Amino acid sequence: MRSALVTGPGLPPQYTDAPEPQPADGEIVVDVLAAAIHPLTRSRAAGTHYSDTSRFPLIPGVDGVGRDADGVLRYFALDAGPGSMAQRVAIDPRRSIPLPDDADPVTVAAGMNPAMSSWIALRSRIRFAAGQSVLVLGATGAAGGLAVEVARLLGAARIVAAGRDATRLAALPARGATAVVRLGTPDTAAALAREAADVDIVLDYVWGDVSAAAMTALVTARPDRSRPLTWVQIGSTAGPTTPVPAAALRAARLQLVGSGIGSVPVPELLAELPELARILTSGGLQVDARPVPLADVESAWTSPASDRARIVLVPDER
Ligand SMILES: NC(=O)c1ccc[n+]([C@@H]2O[C@H](COP(=O)([O-])OP(=O)(O)OC[C@H]3O[C@@H](n4cnc5c(N)ncnc54)[C@H](OP(=O)(O)O)[C@@H]3O)[C@@H](O)[C@H]2O)c1
Repeated sequence: MRSALVTGPGLPPQYTDAPEPQPADGEIVVDVLAAAIHPLTRSRAAGTHYSDTSRFPLIPGVDGVGRDADGVLRYFALDAGPGSMAQRVAIDPRRSIPLPDDADPVTVAAGMNPAMSSWIALRSRIRFAAGQSVLVLGATGAAGGLAVEVARLLGAARIVAAGRDATRLAALPARGATAVVRLGTPDTAAALAREAADVDIVLDYVWGDVSAAAMTALVTARPDRSRPLTWVQIGSTAGPTTPVPAAALRAARLQLVGSGIGSVPVPELLAELPELARILTSGGLQVDARPVPLADVESAWTSPASDRARIVLVPDER
């Protein structure tokens, strides 16, 4: 079969021949219809993700949409082993969910990973109640934008969206943000203090120095410091570590938790997927996806589109 193949850490995938998948006990083979290039796909393929167990050469791809031998369309999430950027892949059916036959494979492949990040955080990792208020730090990325929509769907009373890109930030009120804050300006700390000092939950996709500064801004301006503030670490686009100020943890009822692979039990995570897929396939979330033939994987990987739609690779031969 044809597949993408990464031959070493940091190298882009090439389109090449690969052996047919060899399903282990309990696995099934699906024809892949769509597999997206998520940040996790890139960091796993580079051997840099904390959950990484990669051995090179590897077929990249952490999830996707495929059709099984019975003709059932499935979203699947992979664990170890060959990835989804191939004509066929062996999957564990317990890590997959059936989709309606008319579901758009590209939309589902593009949307499940980023949408899952906030859905799992709010539904499974922490106790979120409708009526609470949420700050999404890094709301201009795919996952952050969907976090705004997910918070709205789950009944957040106020949703403050913070991000760098002015154009993408301006689109977020239409997706549910009740206020926006521009990151990376001289006014950022004051704006965060003004708009988000009293939020209950922060969904943090950014980390790095940006998060430490935001923590200080929120905690020092918090009108009631005894009110719980749950800071959920989800992504780290601005850096893998953050200098958490000691005072922020002592001067307010701030608790830091992470949400991702490892911090949510896999069965709990899988149990959340059908409802999220139902919302996604019924058009309940806005997903910006760009299908690209799998044969063009190398250029798609190295020159991401300027519109920053999520690139979804589509095998064009069977
Ligand atoms: N834990 C989980 O369950 C989970 C699931 C999915 C994703 N994630 C993680 O979430 C993060 C975002 O994923 P994504 O799919 O949304 O990626 P994405 O669509 O590529 O978006 C990344 C965004 O990061 C922002 N960014 C980059 N550097 C920044 C900085 N220094 N300061 C502020 N913002 C910065 C950019 O915002 P601007 O456009 O404003 O510049 C960009 O839009 C990644 O770290 C990913 O691994 C975690």
